[in-house]
Amino acid sequence: MLAKLDEITNGQAKGFDPLCSGRDSMFVIRQDDKAYAYLDICPHYGDTTLPWKKHQYLNADKTHIVCAAHRAVFNIQDGNCVKGPCLGQALKNIKIEVSSDQEIQVDLNILRNAINETMR
Ligand code: FES
Repeated sequence: MLAKLDEITNGQAKGFDPLCSGRDSMFVIRQDDKAYAYLDICPHYGDTTLPWKKHQYLNADKTHIVCAAHRAVFNIQDGNCVKGPCLGQALKNIKIEVSSDQEIQVDLNILRNAINETMR
């Protein structure tokens, strides 16, 4: 289990390090009962992580995901870049499941594969 859904404040994002790599490799954004998860790697440049500070993945209005490095802006719902240097690219979605008792589950093999594909 990654976390309970209610451990993420509604409308906020939270980073996770499920592979115990020493840095957050993915993040989850909660919007009411929905959760969206992405790899914490910006498609613009190398393996750059997005937040300027732990868990700070969203803009001030909490309407979009922002990469702190060069200010790329991404949709929360589909990860598509809508503004900035990686326009036309997208964050790598990570499949998660929220169980009936609100536990967020991630398959570590899916996460590892996503990291490996992105780092190629
Ligand atoms: S590394 Fe994310 S916008 Fe440049």
